[in-house]
Amino acid sequence: PASYRITFEPGNRTVTAAGGETLLEAARRLGLHVNASCGGDGTCGRCRVIIEQGAVNGGASEKISPADFQQGHRLACGAEITGDTVVRIPVESGLGKGGLTTGGRGEVAGRNRARMHVYDIEELREHGLFLPPVEKFFLELPRPGHADNMADAGRIINSLSSQYDEHRMVITLPVLKKIPAALRADDFRATVTVARPVHSGKNFVMDIQPGNWTRRNFALAFDLGTTSIYGILVDLESGKVLARDGAYNGQLSYGEDVISRIIYAEKPQGLERMQELAVNTINQVLDKLLAKAHPPEEAARGAVRREEISSITIAANTTMTHLLLGLDPSHIRRAPYVPASTFLPPVRAADLGLKLDQHAVALCYPAVSSYVGGDIVAGVMGSGMYRTDKLTLYLDIGTNAEIVIGSREWLVCAACSAGPAFEGGGITHGMRAAQGAIEDVAIDPQTLEPLLTTVGNRPPVGICGSGLLNLVAALFTCGVLDSRGRFQRELATDRLREGRSGWEYVLVRQQEAGVEHDIVLNEVDIQNFMRAKAAIFAGVKTLVEEVGLAIGDLEQVILAGAFGSYLDLDAAMTVGLLPEIAPEKFLYVGNGSLMGAWMSAMSNHIRRDVVAVVRKLTSFELSEVTAFQEQYTASQFLPHTDLELFPGVK
Ligand code: FES
Repeated sequence: PASYRITFEPGNRTVTAAGGETLLEAARRLGLHVNASCGGDGTCGRCRVIIEQGAVNGGASEKISPADFQQGHRLACGAEITGDTVVRIPVESGLGKGGLTTGGRGEVAGRNRARMHVYDIEELREHGLFLPPVEKFFLELPRPGHADNMADAGRIINSLSSQYDEHRMVITLPVLKKIPAALRADDFRATVTVARPVHSGKNFVMDIQPGNWTRRNFALAFDLGTTSIYGILVDLESGKVLARDGAYNGQLSYGEDVISRIIYAEKPQGLERMQELAVNTINQVLDKLLAKAHPPEEAARGAVRREEISSITIAANTTMTHLLLGLDPSHIRRAPYVPASTFLPPVRAADLGLKLDQHAVALCYPAVSSYVGGDIVAGVMGSGMYRTDKLTLYLDIGTNAEIVIGSREWLVCAACSAGPAFEGGGITHGMRAAQGAIEDVAIDPQTLEPLLTTVGNRPPVGICGSGLLNLVAALFTCGVLDSRGRFQRELATDRLREGRSGWEYVLVRQQEAGVEHDIVLNEVDIQNFMRAKAAIFAGVKTLVEEVGLAIGDLEQVILAGAFGSYLDLDAAMTVGLLPEIAPEKFLYVGNGSLMGAWMSAMSNHIRRDVVAVVRKLTSFELSEVTAFQEQYTASQFLPHTDLELFPGVK
């Protein structure tokens, strides 16, 4: 087929594309992000672009009004290239800037930490738990002579056992090759890097350098999420976090949930592409971390260098872990949902394509099952839930809501598919929490006029998860919505009107918006929201009852994840997303999965505990529990059909 020049705006990025290729494919090849929640199926309507010059074939949809179609609006996934074209990606179809929360309210500190069992570095040291999976040892070896002509390698192994009580060493061939020169470069004084796998009982010498470099040992901990990837760089000497950063997962343009990623991975070269995108995003975050990280007490020796990083610990859901390691994920999405593996062997980071030195080890958190992944296990570890005596509910709300209940004695867990509503998916003007996202809403009970707060105080562009929650709660409290999620049509306000998709509330009028249309919430959006919140509430209630307890027995609730960190408890209880529990029982852990990765990066003892926790975690398949369906149906009301459960909501 003929090839054409496609230019994407803003940014004037150009790519050559074959006739018949879709605009979405062309954008992906350029590494440009266009929202594609459904992965290119033509169903989500999030990939809307505007043809500014030239023409395309197809791309019409009921999601695009005839007037917009006339103006050149098309779905990028359906629009086939037929000639040179200039295409605009409107703000709402792009990633937006900022909005990635690397801290947030959940940053575990002070009081919050004291109430949870979250470790800090001092505590790890105090309890004798500080034992990084990869450590550096300084050796001062006796010089060989006529009376002592032991081999260089033997000399190292002897010294490790006598000086440091480190036994069962294996020296790999690449390290053996470096030894003679390294030992003689600084008069038999050298630093060896030792990796300690949890299972094998053997320790591996991964590197040797002349001189003493023990104070220059750094580790990475990553939370590899379906939407975003966060990383921290830790100084293994002081235990300090030197830098933290994040980026949107490069796979995002291939669909928003794990299923669409698996489907893509099943295509020819799809798995390679998914792996490459995950690795690229980690590398991108790594570059940002390195640019930021200057260990203060080591200022004289300068910034952290890439080759000084000796391990990367990654917590991710089961699908992401498979995609990162290049394992076939296809059985994860088919009953009986079998992953290739739940325990993952340590691998050389460089073999995955991570831009780290040959000696750096990559360690992935083990999973429980296909839908209870290493990210949850890491959350249970990071929040200290596995050490508490209190009956605890751990809740991480994303596209999948992950629920863990238990204490140090026992743990049960379940994942329920909440759908992407809390990340802005399936909502007409929904978006992620990027710049311009409406994150908070109050409604004047008299005039029914809204008052908004947006991320970055930008002109509003769309509604993010927390904005949606607060909006629905406010509309319900003011009587604009009834308990079935329907608008009270008779109310005297011009904010309510009948739109293209039924009744809607106009949250922002076009003249005040940062986009070229009104921002509205319609009844279909509200139904989607109700399904999402119902799935979570029903999941929690079912799981609690499956173990013979009641919601009232819960002694604490730990909220994790980006959405959880910004969750307004009042609003969440008003709509029946969270059970009515005394507010002082709620704790925010922030990115629990990243916390867990950090802990494992600091302590092999904790890595051993992880294995025990994985074995302890009993996973429930909610779709197989009949009570769940009933709970789910009963929960699709504001707040619930059983008002006894929500005495506080009037
Ligand atoms: Fe195009 Fe979903 S409609 S990606």
